Amino acid sequence: MVVGGSSGIGLALVRLLHEQQANIYAVSRSASAEWPADVRFLKADVLENLDAIQRFLPDQLHGLVYSVGSITLKPINRLTSEDFLKDFQLNVLGAARMIQQALKPLKNAAGSSIVLISTVAVQTGMPYHASIAAAKGAVEGMALSLAAELAFQQIRVNVVAPSLTDTPLAQSLLSSPERRETSAKRHPLGKIGRPEDISQLIAFLLSDNSSWMTGQVIGLDGGLGKLKTT
Ligand SMILES: NC(=O)c1ccc[n+]([C@@H]2O[C@H](COP(=O)([O-])OP(=O)(O)OC[C@H]3O[C@@H](n4cnc5c(N)ncnc54)[C@H](OP(=O)(O)O)[C@@H]3O)[C@@H](O)[C@H]2O)c1
Repeated sequence: MVVGGSSGIGLALVRLLHEQQANIYAVSRSASAEWPADVRFLKADVLENLDAIQRFLPDQLHGLVYSVGSITLKPINRLTSEDFLKDFQLNVLGAARMIQQALKPLKNAAGSSIVLISTVAVQTGMPYHASIAAAKGAVEGMALSLAAELAFQQIRVNVVAPSLTDTPLAQSLLSSPERRETSAKRHPLGKIGRPEDISQLIAFLLSDNSSWMTGQVIGLDGGLGKLKTT
């Protein structure tokens, strides 16, 4: 099940999982014209329609990806309590509620995987990221706790932490060729991420190829999070 499968990273993941012959359940507030025909879709808001999501879930669920989130970038003197609360609700509570709903079918699969998405800005300090870094830091903490709590039920929990990736969510940061170039140059590998870069890792974390992996936060950031090249 891909929550947020209609756009960006989630959409790239739906395409990839379809190539791998997975049965795909997608949840978002709108559908995508780019989905393969056999994607099962529920139009729902994760913050509001939990009952509908519960009814939509299959008896057995092998993978759950929460690809919903925000990028709120403001200096600290302009961040309101509402900004912090909104980021927390969408990134942390949305994921937590989704996992609660899906717990039984995840257990029933006798070996399943949850993947959450953080950001490079949790482990690498960046200006204007206070609200989103706080929320994604909470996502990482929650994921580690759940990985420990659910390991005995063979439910794995891992986190992918990308840097700037070319999706609709990031468009305001990539709105001109100059902005794109500046963003690309900040990364040691000289480029920003593509949704496919992230979806490949998520598909691996969902698959049995990572069956001994849980409780990990994996940076996927063109080297930005760990390297100093100048
Ligand atoms: N792009 C980046 O640079 C970047 C960097 C670091 C981390 N991330 C993280 O990566 C994840 C995916 O982001 P993205 O860039 O792929 O974003 P995106 O292109 O905006 O896709 C977000 C998806 O979430 C769905 N969604 C949003 N709010 C929802 C809600 N309330 N209920 C149900 N579905 C909802 C959207 O569909 P609808 O609008 O149809 O509901 C869409 O399918 C997020 O957690 C984001 O924080 C992104």
